[in-house]
Amino acid sequence: MRKPFISANWKMNKTIEETEEFINSFLPMVKDITAVDILIAPPFTSLQAVARLLKTTNIKLGAQNVFYEEKGAFTGEISPAMLLSAGCSHVIIGHSERRQYFMETDEIVNKKIKTARKNGLEVILCIGESLKEREENKTFEVLDRQLTGSLKDIDLNGMTIAYEPIWAIGTGKTATKEQANEAHAFIRGWLKKNREGAEKLRILYGGSVTPESIESLMSESEVDGALVGGASMKPDSFAKIVTGAIK
Ligand code: 13P
Repeated sequence: MRKPFISANWKMNKTIEETEEFINSFLPMVKDITAVDILIAPPFTSLQAVARLLKTTNIKLGAQNVFYEEKGAFTGEISPAMLLSAGCSHVIIGHSERRQYFMETDEIVNKKIKTARKNGLEVILCIGESLKEREENKTFEVLDRQLTGSLKDIDLNGMTIAYEPIWAIGTGKTATKEQANEAHAFIRGWLKKNREGAEKLRILYGGSVTPESIESLMSESEVDGALVGGASMKPDSFAKIVTGAIK
């Protein structure tokens, strides 16, 4: 069985002080939980502070983005080595907000995954369709295109996939558990057909996950966890999601 995996993506939220306050109240709430892997992805500026606070815990630290070059004249960018040295074990790549606002294509996502993996970072790859694509019955076509492009020449070691339908992100409109499971099953089917080790890979659902919706989502066989935005920013709400994810 795949161990549940709950990740917080704070996006562009929380100063260092706010981050420290969160961690200090969150840790006691989850100290006895071993049945769920937990990850927090704060903004770059808070990584080091979080790494220090998480040192004696099993909670993992992730970044929300990384560049595909290893070093050099790329003003404003962050390399995999920098993330590792800040204490990260994971990085989120290909989030729909990066695709939408920063023009990230599957080709760029693919280059980022390659550099991250080469440097030993584990990757959470985000994919998912827009509302228009879903309404036009193109969900599987989009997932197929994103998987083909993003995973070109990449094996599944150190990979997690997050299915995040764009229409469910930050809208309060969670996919039904059936919709999530159907998309996850398609993704796993694609991986089984094209890669080794698909059975072990965890597929997370992301999009308006709340303490109220987590149990129902996790009841589906193909939902292995969640990538949580809004509801991960309050310690008690995120702790409830973690607890609710125990299968
Ligand atoms: P929300 O949980 O705020 O909908 O965000 C989901 C998300 O984008 C996580 O990466």
